[in-house]
Amino acid sequence: MDIEQIRKDTPGCHDKLFLNSAGSSLPPKTVNERIIEYLEEEERYGGYRLAEMKRAGIAGFYQEAALLLNTSSKNIAFTSSATESFARVLSAIPFNSGDVILTTDNDYVSSFLQFLSLKERFGVEIERIQHLENGDLDLEQAAKMMEQHQPKLVTLAHIPTSSGLVQDAEAIGKLCREHDCLFLLDACQSAGQLPLDVNQLNCDFLSATGRKFLRGPRGTGLLYVSDHALNQGLAPLFIDLRGATWTEPGKYELSRKARRFEQWEMPYALMMGLKEAIGYANQVGLENIARKNSALSNLLRKELAGLKGVQVYDRGSHKASIITFKKENLTIQDHVHMLQENNVFFSVTSRDSAIYDYTEKGVEQLVRLSPHYFNTEEEISDLAEIIEQI
Ligand SMILES: Cc1ncc(COP(=O)(O)O)c(C=O)c1O
Repeated sequence: MDIEQIRKDTPGCHDKLFLNSAGSSLPPKTVNERIIEYLEEEERYGGYRLAEMKRAGIAGFYQEAALLLNTSSKNIAFTSSATESFARVLSAIPFNSGDVILTTDNDYVSSFLQFLSLKERFGVEIERIQHLENGDLDLEQAAKMMEQHQPKLVTLAHIPTSSGLVQDAEAIGKLCREHDCLFLLDACQSAGQLPLDVNQLNCDFLSATGRKFLRGPRGTGLLYVSDHALNQGLAPLFIDLRGATWTEPGKYELSRKARRFEQWEMPYALMMGLKEAIGYANQVGLENIARKNSALSNLLRKELAGLKGVQVYDRGSHKASIITFKKENLTIQDHVHMLQENNVFFSVTSRDSAIYDYTEKGVEQLVRLSPHYFNTEEEISDLAEIIEQI
């Protein structure tokens, strides 16, 4: 990995300690260049003509995303966020009263809100796979729950928003195949930091966002839809003329591709930005990114463990590049003040984003740091010194 070149390509990384790639990362400068180029051409030609002229470039978005996930272009949809991808999948599943959604304690807040909304409106039941003491999913219990509940949908956050836990998506995918359940993987925090192979993961759907570890623009997301799901005729409840063709007064035909999950109106300039970001990640290599991130986050956890009064809250036998911590006897405001004063960019995660997890950990708020491969070991050491002084 050519870290010097990577940092040269990242204008935002030089004048601060940027540790918020789990929030909204720093894009490579070519991402904005592609967006601006496209917008300037829209100014000259108008959006409709330009989209026709750029057909090959637009197809390139689907190819890059397919390469990222080891699938085909036809299985990729562009969306505006991970939440939109997720909601479109939920709307595609014909839930009836009593149907079970099987999830985990570490799923995203908006996912839980959507499950609760489905429960209120359609009587869907929500069940959760339990975890072991170290935070890993209890796979034996997961198998039993699939047997017992025959869930209509199994879904989990690969990496939650609120800690560095990596949930064993591959093992759950395998169980879903064995039990013939639909599997929706929320890869919002893993896309761009871990290699993802939808065939190995055995997922029917995978949702992701552009702005986090993929380093794309805000307002972008993507969705993978398997052939298994497409062949079942699953489609969002509110399709539009991109996803289907109105063939007769009372009939329509669904697109055979994942684009049935898209809407006709799209921000093509942003799509070009996301294509550039994914292309950049593909070129650096997801294995390389994962290795570097693992080194950075292990170093940060080790440094924090050596500091008096600091408690790190991440669990699991496999941890990602999200580090959550707090210093004893200090308020979160004390942490925020000190970190901001030292030009550290970070997030604070609150219990209302992680009701099950933070209740179990007995915390209201934690500081969340999320290094990415453009960060350096020196930055991690500088950060540890700042945290020591809080
Ligand atoms: C695990 C996880 N899933 C889903 C989302 C939602 O992503 P978006 O805001 O792009 O909809 C987030 C955002 O933080 C997340 O961390």
